[in-house]
Amino acid sequence: MDAPTREFALAGSLEELKAKGRLVVHGAHRPILVICDRGRVFALDNRCPHMGFPLERGSVEDGILTCHWHHARFDLESGCTFDLWADDVPICPVEVRDGDVWVKTTFGHADPAAHWHRRLADGLAHNLGLVIAKAMHGQLAADVPPADIVRQVALFGAQSRDGWGVGLTILTALANLLPALPEEEAFLALFHGARRVAADCDGEAPRRERAPLAGRPNPAALKRWLRRWTNVRHREAAERTLLTAIAAGASPAVLADALLAAETERVFADSGHSLDFTNKAFECLDLIGWEHAAAVLPTVVGQMVAARGAEESTAWRQPVDLVALCEEAASQLPELFAAGRGVPGWCDHAALARELLGDDPARIVDALKAAIRAGAAPAELGRSLAYAAALRVARFGNANEHADWETAHHVFTYANAVHRMLERIGTADAEGGATAVRAVLHGTMALYLARYLNVPPARIPGDGGEQLDDLPADAEMIRAALLDAFDRQRQVDLAARLVARHLKLGHSPQALIATLARALLREDAGFHAYQMLEAGVRQFSSWGNTDEGRHILVAVARYLAAHSPTERAALQTADIARRLMRGGELHQEAGAS
Ligand code: FES
Repeated sequence: MDAPTREFALAGSLEELKAKGRLVVHGAHRPILVICDRGRVFALDNRCPHMGFPLERGSVEDGILTCHWHHARFDLESGCTFDLWADDVPICPVEVRDGDVWVKTTFGHADPAAHWHRRLADGLAHNLGLVIAKAMHGQLAADVPPADIVRQVALFGAQSRDGWGVGLTILTALANLLPALPEEEAFLALFHGARRVAADCDGEAPRRERAPLAGRPNPAALKRWLRRWTNVRHREAAERTLLTAIAAGASPAVLADALLAAETERVFADSGHSLDFTNKAFECLDLIGWEHAAAVLPTVVGQMVAARGAEESTAWRQPVDLVALCEEAASQLPELFAAGRGVPGWCDHAALARELLGDDPARIVDALKAAIRAGAAPAELGRSLAYAAALRVARFGNANEHADWETAHHVFTYANAVHRMLERIGTADAEGGATAVRAVLHGTMALYLARYLNVPPARIPGDGGEQLDDLPADAEMIRAALLDAFDRQRQVDLAARLVARHLKLGHSPQALIATLARALLREDAGFHAYQMLEAGVRQFSSWGNTDEGRHILVAVARYLAAHSPTERAALQTADIARRLMRGGELHQEAGAS
């Protein structure tokens, strides 16, 4: 018999174990439960993988260990659970040497990355939050790149339900923010993204694959067909057309141009969600790799062809026919862009944004036309629209109903998506913006219809030279006060003032953004809150720490503050997972005998 190594610890004599039935080995390592059952000796982590309750308090019958708390059951030999919500309990080697029982005090997997990849797959498939959180923690601890984790979750989401959902949007939005997040928040971001994808897919029928056409029509024909099939709501045809374009090697820019043209066959479809989801599918592919385009992009088609357009809404038809106004302007776009082509140096984004916030729809359209004639490119129009929409949120009056926040939010995240899509399309638009810029026209009218949200407008802190000297000056104190504000309801104005103060003093915008992310990620946030933060951070990056940048982050802070705090149940799940994974003892008091 080998001499005991330093990795092994003495649990006690076999005689003692047989007499007591179980022993617990404490030490710097995690507590280990040693059990003798029908002449065989087993060793397991004494902390129940569900919530850490001491398994020594459990009962053993017929080779099955039952936790005393929520009665999860485990196979003693393998540690595998019969109750998937509880997760498997880690086991460790045990040896009987000269009548003494020795246990190896380290737990581990031969290939941790592969093990936690499988566990994440299980957690996603069965919508198990705790398993997802532990697997996320395990993969990060095994140095799996976050992009690989996002890819696993995204492909699961794309294949496990019949169409793109809010979960994939949240996953992508949070994955976009990962570079700005500290380690703890990055873990929470991945956890929230994955759990929302799992929840979306729970009980859903998986997606059915379609095949591309065997032929290779030219890109212009594919774009026309995609618009045609969208108009007649022919999902199968639209999916096959899109798959054909992908199989033909169409670039992301060309695909974006075709999909944006199809999306804008309907006006502000599904309150902007349809276009927003499409943009997120593109961003998802930027993150996980364009080799997955055929698996991901067609997931947006079902919603796109089924979406209800604003042209069916009375508000867009009366008292002013906004749809007719958009159509007339759209018909002039080729001529307008031709006039503006070659005119250099247009940079009146902020001035145009203020005109887009006017209360005369014809004048709004005229301002847009004038900008195009003066040389504004489609993506620059998108940037102005997004800033104007952020101002709607930043000036959201507290006299509005709470639900009205979503109206303001919809226009902003739609505008952000339009801006992103137009940036992506760039010069790939063979029609010179004639089709794609319909999205900007629709956005300006949605913005116009939401003008009542700024009557009266909330004042944006920091404007007009306001220094906000009643607030702390130290950067960390401001950020701590901001988190404290998010701990309480109705702190919309205080949160806005603290954000403005931070920026006016020239403190790090990155640290401020990380604090806003922390405030969001500790909540059981709604779908829109994730979109709001990510779109805000994206648009802030276009402006930096300028007045316009401050307005955008004030908008984010006001929206988040209006929706905080929540129960923070998901944070509790993440915290339990973290403590279990780090090997700390939980519920020690309950385990004291
Ligand atoms: S079943 Fe063991 S802690 Fe819940």
